[in-house]
Amino acid sequence: MRYRYGAPGHAPGTSETQAKIATWVHRALYGALIAMVITGGMTWNGVVDLGYVHWLLNIVLFALITAHAAAAMFNQFVRKDGTLARMIPALKK
Ligand code: HEM
Repeated sequence: MRYRYGAPGHAPGTSETQAKIATWVHRALYGALIAMVITGGMTWNGVVDLGYVHWLLNIVLFALITAHAAAAMFNQFVRKDGTLARMIPALKK
């Protein structure tokens, strides 16, 4: 989806620091998701037991998801910059 449709980019008025943090959180989200599938798949198939790494990554992934959702809510409801609508095109007016 990301490769085919791209991403909407940062909302107008986003500072350089905020944009940098957001970009790295987004990269970490993709990385953690891919690593979850790889570590889970290798453990499941008995290639190598990465069960502990998989479990640790799950904590990292859920911390990232929480940060991502909190930032989206802050932008949408405090800064009122339409971030949620950028994430969910069906909400666009
Ligand atoms: C975002 C995707 C995933 C999340 C959030 C996730 C989450 C978790 C969590 C929390 C556990 C620990 C359960 C426990 O011990 O209480 C676990 C274990 C496990 N998961 Fe996943 N998982 C994901 C994807 C996958 C995939 C794609 C596979 C296989 C193809 C997989 C295979 C396994 C296996 C084999 C274990 C047991 C590991 C062990 O030996 O402790 N997981 N997963």
